[in-house]
Amino acid sequence: MSHTIIEFKDVVKEYDDTTVLKSVSFEIEQGKFYTLLGPSGCGKTTILRLIAGFSEPTSGEILFDGKVINKVPANKRKVNTVFQDYALFPHMDVYENVAFGLKIKKLPKEQIDVKVREALRLVQLSGLEERQISDMSGGQRQRVAIARALVNEPEILLLDEPLSALDLKLRTAMQSELRELQKRLGITFIFVTHDQEEALAMSDEIFVMHDGKIEQSGSPSDIYDEPINRFVADFIGESNIVKGVMIEDNLVEFVGKQFECVDSGMRENEPVDVVMRPEDISLVPVEQGKLKATVDTLLFRGVHYEIFCIDSEGNEWMVHSTKKPLEGQAVGLFFEPEDIHVMRFNESEEDFDARLESYDD
Ligand SMILES: Nc1ncnc2c1ncn2[C@@H]1O[C@H](COP(=O)(O)OP(=O)(O)O)[C@@H](O)[C@H]1O
Ligand SMILES: [Mg+2]
Repeated sequence: MSHTIIEFKDVVKEYDDTTVLKSVSFEIEQGKFYTLLGPSGCGKTTILRLIAGFSEPTSGEILFDGKVINKVPANKRKVNTVFQDYALFPHMDVYENVAFGLKIKKLPKEQIDVKVREALRLVQLSGLEERQISDMSGGQRQRVAIARALVNEPEILLLDEPLSALDLKLRTAMQSELRELQKRLGITFIFVTHDQEEALAMSDEIFVMHDGKIEQSGSPSDIYDEPINRFVADFIGESNIVKGVMIEDNLVEFVGKQFECVDSGMRENEPVDVVMRPEDISLVPVEQGKLKATVDTLLFRGVHYEIFCIDSEGNEWMVHSTKKPLEGQAVGLFFEPEDIHVMRFNESEEDFDARLESYDD
């Protein structure tokens, strides 16, 4: 059974007069792959630094295995970090890079040797012990950086945008490699990225961050299928978002028409945001559409067309379809009640989760 390994309780981090984390609370369970996802500057690295012990919270508590560790120094924590730039020593070979921390700790030579070889085996670099860092590819350097963190046998591995410097192909390969490694080791990974596709592909749990707060946490499908608000919907994949009014339970109005939907628990006539994913909308003949629109532009995306349509109120709707309409053509947009996602303004994650659970009854 997995247990809570890290907990943040109302953690605030301020520098001088700027608040970079605004009362952040979450729990991390042992043995899972977590991702902190959000745009640059939202506070991802700040959270990793707090977990690693490189900085202290201004207020709030950080717990490891149930004990407060706010003041525990970094070298006493069972946590290691793989940095964005890898921070390898270019003048040392692979073996020396990985062994460095253990030598500092003055471990016996034989023990260092066993640990270094094991770490290199885990990242599939056995045989390259004497290779110079400058003679290695980006992917190999990445693995040296991971081996150097693993050699300390951490319970938690923190990875701060470790793939952002790699080209797309290598990146995709490293994504599955990291995911495999995490499963094999069974330790907790906390991975940072600003790339939503990467987060969706790799994680057990995602924390979507914005402006020093966690907007939503959940599995990739929770977050993709039921975004809590406009920010999350927009950040996680492509979305159509329009303003609407919740007339009553299971009935929402947008673009001047009322539609059956599956959302409930809001006030009558509450203003809301309405989201529909491009892949959930189909193009149909005008008279069969729930909304009428005109095709503005289209792009071929290899598997489907990405079609931009404009409705009678001037809203833009992106539709994914294998059909190729003509620019300027009048079309119908069709969707089912469950394709409509209604989002309240400023709903807390707690209230949001409670409301979603009530739908199952
Ligand atoms: N030592 C510091 N002093 C002042 N401001 C800082 C410091 N470290 C980070 N910040 C600010 O905190 C915010 C969050 O930074 P960071 O956690 O690095 O974001 P991310 O990793 O999500 O890009 C940024 O606005 C950044 O400028
Ligand atoms: Mg960062």
